[in-house]
Amino acid sequence: MNLDLDGLKQQFAKELSTVSSLVELEAVERHFFSRSSGQLTSVMKDIGKLPPADKKSAGQKLNVLRQEMERALSDKRRAFSNKEMAERLEQESIDVTRQALPPKLHGHLHPLTQLEWQIEDFFRSMGFMVLDGPELESEYYNFEVLNIPATHPARDMQDTFFIKDLPGAVMRTHTSPVQVRALEEYGAPIRAIVPGRCFRNEATDTRHEHTFYHIEGLAVGRGISFSHLKGVLEATAKFLYGEDTEVRLRPKYYPFVEPGVNGEVTCFLCRGDGCKVCKKTGWLEIFGAGLMHPNVLKAGGVDPDEHQGFAFGIGLERLAMLKYGIEDIRHFESGDLRFLEQF
Ligand code: PHE
Repeated sequence: MNLDLDGLKQQFAKELSTVSSLVELEAVERHFFSRSSGQLTSVMKDIGKLPPADKKSAGQKLNVLRQEMERALSDKRRAFSNKEMAERLEQESIDVTRQALPPKLHGHLHPLTQLEWQIEDFFRSMGFMVLDGPELESEYYNFEVLNIPATHPARDMQDTFFIKDLPGAVMRTHTSPVQVRALEEYGAPIRAIVPGRCFRNEATDTRHEHTFYHIEGLAVGRGISFSHLKGVLEATAKFLYGEDTEVRLRPKYYPFVEPGVNGEVTCFLCRGDGCKVCKKTGWLEIFGAGLMHPNVLKAGGVDPDEHQGFAFGIGLERLAMLKYGIEDIRHFESGDLRFLEQF
């Protein structure tokens, strides 16, 4: 058998010389190196059939040729790549004087957090501290010190989640327990707000959630009166809904204040004429408030003959719903980006 290695070499050189693009180069590579049908491969098979005495030197020659061919291919490939790069650089340009695009931020604060922070800033400006309390509360702070003993019907209004293996522990139903905690910690006089997450065992609907946020407020000092409470609530209402917003206080029972009120503000939409949002009353209920009950002050170690105080509670979701026209409270905890990305 005659192995025509020179012929193979010449044919390869000839084909390589006509190549004018990377695609054509790959075709040539396939023609010689393809495992199934390449020229080189078939010569290799022929060597296999040679008598053992000739096999070795033929194999060595073929190896040398193969390395040459591979080198030629890679030289050519590099030449093409360099040429392509040079052409691209020729066409492209970078304007170094152009202003950089601002980086795109993915994600932002939750609408409730945004509103909470605004309200915190507002109260800080009036000298209030911002305090925290535990979400897993004791029945003692959540109910008992607030004048709601175990047998009291007011417990039914705030049905919550009890913890099976922790008798006496409840998920707090409001942030009012921090009234007594704050007095125990700081005593009187004190001004503080307490934003935080609360829980109730609710049948959920567009206006009720099992998890929600309250902002509690309290001020305790000598001679604190109802007019101080009204002044703070009015300032808050104007801050939230505009200067021409008025506050209306009407009696309401909460066991831990005396007297107790529910606080309404002029409907921000109809400005008092009556509309769908305010159910034709012209007013929106947003606060629960009152003068702190002497028993609460006493539980916090404060003498009610010496110091008096007011307290209020605001539902944060309700504020946000009114401010932004949100129709369903369940959006807040849903984690639905279509909702969140609007803020
Ligand atoms: N904690 C009351 C509630 O959850 C609101 C409130 C707070 C009322 C402080 C009066 C004083 O409804």
